[in-house]
Amino acid sequence: MDAQDVRNDLTHVLMSTEEVQATVRDLAAQIDRDYEGKDLLIVAVLKGAVMVVADLTRALHTHVEMDFMAVSSYGSGTKSSGVVRILKDLDADLTGRHVLIVEDIIDSGLTLSWLKANLETRGPASVEICTLLRKPDAMKVEIDVKYVGKDIPNEFVVGYGLDYAEKYRNLDFVGTLAPHVYS
Ligand code: XMP
Ligand code: MG
Repeated sequence: MDAQDVRNDLTHVLMSTEEVQATVRDLAAQIDRDYEGKDLLIVAVLKGAVMVVADLTRALHTHVEMDFMAVSSYGSGTKSSGVVRILKDLDADLTGRHVLIVEDIIDSGLTLSWLKANLETRGPASVEICTLLRKPDAMKVEIDVKYVGKDIPNEFVVGYGLDYAEKYRNLDFVGTLAPHVYS
């Protein structure tokens, strides 16, 4: 699939490459301020958060460790099931650690609220959340998110790690998926 074909699958570009990069740098600056002198463990949620975590951690001055977790709340569709499964658990012991969960997007919030509660049972010093995108109109649970890159409309978006049926993850911008692709 070349660039022109991808454009046909999108209604518009929601966040340009430049805006994504500036937003990630801004998140990194906030995290640097808050965690200065602390031992920080970044937990990235696979697969969607790979791009965010790769750029975010390289923009940080704070020394961090990185670990990865894979959970599933979706099939290949576009709606949250609310059922969360751990597909790959962390390697790290969280006892006494400052943990920052890095996500691509918060939609209903069901996945993250479940994940945050799960990690909090493992004895960490703190657990906070950083997400590139959030859909406030789709939120179904109250969830305290310390770092939000951008609030977006309740539409299905792809690119910069976000997929539809495993496609579009490697776009370096975020676009809104055209309904004809998934209906
Ligand atoms: P919830 O609803 O539990 O969902 O907050 C979080 C997970 O759902 C996926 N998700 C999306 N993926 N475009 C995507 O490519 C979207 O617009 C979208 N909305 C939710 C994503 O995997 C996220 O981690
Ligand atoms: Mg995801």
